Amino acid sequence: MSSPSVHVRAPGKINVYLGVGPRHDDGYHSLATVFQAVSLYEDVYATLADEFTLEVFGDVDVSDVPTDDRNLAMRAAKLLAQTAGITSGVHLRIRKGVPVAGGMGGGSADAAATLVACDALWGTDLGMHRLHELAARLGADVPFTLHGGTAIGTGRGDELTPALARGRFDWVLVLSDQGLSTPEIYRKLDVLRAQDAPVADDPPLSLDVPLAVLQALRAGDAAGLAPVLMNDLEAPALADRPDLARVLADGIRFGALGGLVSGSGPTIALLCEGSEQAQTVQNELQATGHDALHVHGPVPGARVIA
Ligand code: C5P
Repeated sequence: MSSPSVHVRAPGKINVYLGVGPRHDDGYHSLATVFQAVSLYEDVYATLADEFTLEVFGDVDVSDVPTDDRNLAMRAAKLLAQTAGITSGVHLRIRKGVPVAGGMGGGSADAAATLVACDALWGTDLGMHRLHELAARLGADVPFTLHGGTAIGTGRGDELTPALARGRFDWVLVLSDQGLSTPEIYRKLDVLRAQDAPVADDPPLSLDVPLAVLQALRAGDAAGLAPVLMNDLEAPALADRPDLARVLADGIRFGALGGLVSGSGPTIALLCEGSEQAQTVQNELQATGHDALHVHGPVPGARVIA
């Protein structure tokens, strides 16, 4: 007989708005952000085992993904076992659909999916509140991918308030071969700010998501959202990858309403009027040699599939 197994799917995310405040002593920056979960997924298959083991495969390049304790999903499984007093292990198979080191929270989605999968597999039944606490200990974006949808994130990004978002938003993602390191992009923002670089705004005095962003989401108004898309990490990401400015310009030229670097990059997210326009933008970008994908949001967070 085969061992019991659970399949959980968790989404990647875009930061529709990402305001970065000052750096604190723990190395983290305070944020005011709006996350939206999009239809690009990580699948985690958890099977009961004696030890903790992990394998990674998928459509995206997985050669840089560690399979030991540096992997956030591995840490998630061990943290849950330790918290709930579980003495058995788990074999995790992760099928990656979200680009690695792309600024879309793929690793965080793996961790969120692993928490939900192991909770079901081991029958620990911790409930959303406890899972959220564990998620926040694993990383700033993990709680959001657990919940999904559209949400405002404050603190490190882990204090969540659901945001109303009507209808669906169509995005075209442009992927890069090479990833960017999130800690390095945050560090670079601090350096640019310390140099008073014109491309990087100072940390805002009050960290709030502008009303216009929330109103456009609530109204399902892509044309209203496009001009208020904002990401403080865009300047340091473009400093590392100046070619991305061209990708943004191409996307707009092909008909996207607006665009921005997703999280710490290098994935570019282009907001479109609807599905048809997104299809055109995707086709045009592909015809000019870009790796472009059409996705939509919001979608639910980590869910048991089987
Ligand atoms: O929590 P997570 O592991 O996703 O964060 C990766 C890195 O991004 C942190 O080590 C930190 O350098 C940076 N970060 C930050 N402020 C945040 C979130 C992340 O400086 N609010």
